[in-house]
Amino acid sequence: MKRGLKLYHSMDFSLSCAQCHVLPEGSGNRGTQTYSQVNTQVAHPVEPAALRHIFDRESGLQIGSGTVDLLPIKVKDVGLFHDGFLLAPGGVSRSDFSTAHFIQLRFRGSMPGVYDVNDPDHLDAQERQTLDLTSFVRALDTGSAPIIGWAFTCVTSSNTNQRVMDLLRGQVEEANAGLVAHTDIGGVERSFWYDLDQDLFRDDSSLQTYTQAALLAQATAANVIVLQAVPVGSARRIADYGNLDATDSGAAPSNVTLQAMTFPTHWADGGDLQSRWDPNSGPQLFGNPTDARESHKRMIYMQEQLIAAAAAGFDVGINQATHIKHELPRRFRVAGDDIRPGAELEIQLLGRNGVVVPLRMPIFPTKFQVGGSGARIWETTVAADAEMTLGLLHGGLFLPNVWDLIKFTSLTQPYPALDPATDNNYTFVVHNTDGTSAGGSAPLTVTHVR
Ligand code: HEC
Repeated sequence: MKRGLKLYHSMDFSLSCAQCHVLPEGSGNRGTQTYSQVNTQVAHPVEPAALRHIFDRESGLQIGSGTVDLLPIKVKDVGLFHDGFLLAPGGVSRSDFSTAHFIQLRFRGSMPGVYDVNDPDHLDAQERQTLDLTSFVRALDTGSAPIIGWAFTCVTSSNTNQRVMDLLRGQVEEANAGLVAHTDIGGVERSFWYDLDQDLFRDDSSLQTYTQAALLAQATAANVIVLQAVPVGSARRIADYGNLDATDSGAAPSNVTLQAMTFPTHWADGGDLQSRWDPNSGPQLFGNPTDARESHKRMIYMQEQLIAAAAAGFDVGINQATHIKHELPRRFRVAGDDIRPGAELEIQLLGRNGVVVPLRMPIFPTKFQVGGSGARIWETTVAADAEMTLGLLHGGLFLPNVWDLIKFTSLTQPYPALDPATDNNYTFVVHNTDGTSAGGSAPLTVTHVR
C-alpha cells in the first residue's frame, strides 16, 4: 500500500497520477483532456475522474492477486470510463474495466525501473508494482476508516480483550473512529460511549461510567460486552439512540491555541513525494491559452513564496527547498482545555468588502497534547487539499491575489505578489455545544509529522 502511494505520486506516465487525480478525492477538478463521444464525435473537455469509491464503478471482476487477467470477467455493462451515454445493443464501450485491469493495461510499461520485458522475473516485478498501485487506488480515503463497523464480543481471555481494546482505542486516539461498548452486565443492558478526553466509558442515561480496565473486568461467562467501532463523532448517539441532543456543559474553553495542520494517519506516511513535482510536469489544462501547466506552477509558486517568507522570518512550516513537493491533504487542529465532545472549530476567512466567511468544522479529541503533556489537541476530519492549504497559508482563497492565482482570473505573468507575513492571520473560535466558546487570532501553520 505504501509503495502504491509512492507510485501514485512518482511514476512517470509523462505525469504522475497525483498530478491529475489530486488527493483526497482523486480529481484536480479541472479539464485536462478532451474526449470525443463515439456517437457525436464532438470533443468535450473532461476532468480526471474522482478515484474515490472506484470499486463501486468497476464492471470487471478480477480474482486473486497473481498475474492480472487482461480479459476480466464482465459483471455488468458499464464501469470505469463510462461517459454517460446509453449503449446501443452490441455497441462499443470504453467502460468495461476493473481498476487492476486498467492500471495493468495502461501503466505497466511506465513503472519506474529498468526492465527487460523478455525476463519473466522482471515482468513479475512490474506486475507487482501495478498491483500495489491498484490496491492504493482502490483504498483511497472514503471518509470512513476501515475499522468502522467492526464489532467484537469480549471473550474470557483478558489478553485478547485488551488487544482488541488497544486496537480500537488506537483509532479513536487518531480521530479516525468512535468507540461504543454494548453491555449486558448482571442482567442490565446498557451501552457506553468512550470519552477520550475523560478516558471513561460513559452511559448518558444512567450516568454510570467505567474505566477501560473496570469495563473489561466485567467480561465473564455470564456478562456480555460488545465493543464496536463507529463513525468518529457518532459514538454518543449510537450508544444512546433515544437521546440525540446529549451535551456536556461546564467552563468555557481555555488555553486555546491554533495548532499546525497535519496529515491524517492514512496520508501520514507519504514517502518521497518530491519526485515529479517540478514546474514542467503539471497537467496541461484544457483551454488555457498562455501556459499549459498553470495549476501546477501556481502551487509551486505559492510554496516558493512561503520558503522565501520563512527565510525572512515568517515561518509557517514550509521552509526548506525539500518542501517543494506534493502537498498531501491536511486536517485542521486546535488545542485547549475544557473543549468538550461535539465542539466545532471556526476559522474566519476574510472575504471581499470586509465580509467574513466562517469555516466551521467539527473537531475530535486525539491522544496528542501540546508539548506532550499540555492541552489536548483536537482535530477535524475535514481535510484541505494542496491548493486549499497553500491558499490558506497565504491568507485565504478570498484574498484578491490568492483568488487570482487559484481561480486563474489573470493569466498574465508575473504572478500576483503574495505577502503571507501580513495576510496569514486568522481569527479562530472553538464552540462547545453548551454555547461556551473561546478563541484568538494566529497564523495558520503546517507540520510534516503526525
Ligand atoms: C493527464 C492527466 C491524467 C493522468 C496523469 C492520469 N489520469 Fe487517470 N484519468 C484522467 C482523466 C481525464 C480520466 C477520465 C477519462 C474519461 O472519462 O474519459 C481518468 C480516468 C481514470 C480512471 C477511471 C476512473 C473512472 O471512474 O472511470 C482510473 C482508474 C484512472 N484514471 C487511474 C489513473 C492512474 C492510476 C494514474 C497514474 C498511473 C492516472 N490515472 C493518471 C486523467 C489522468
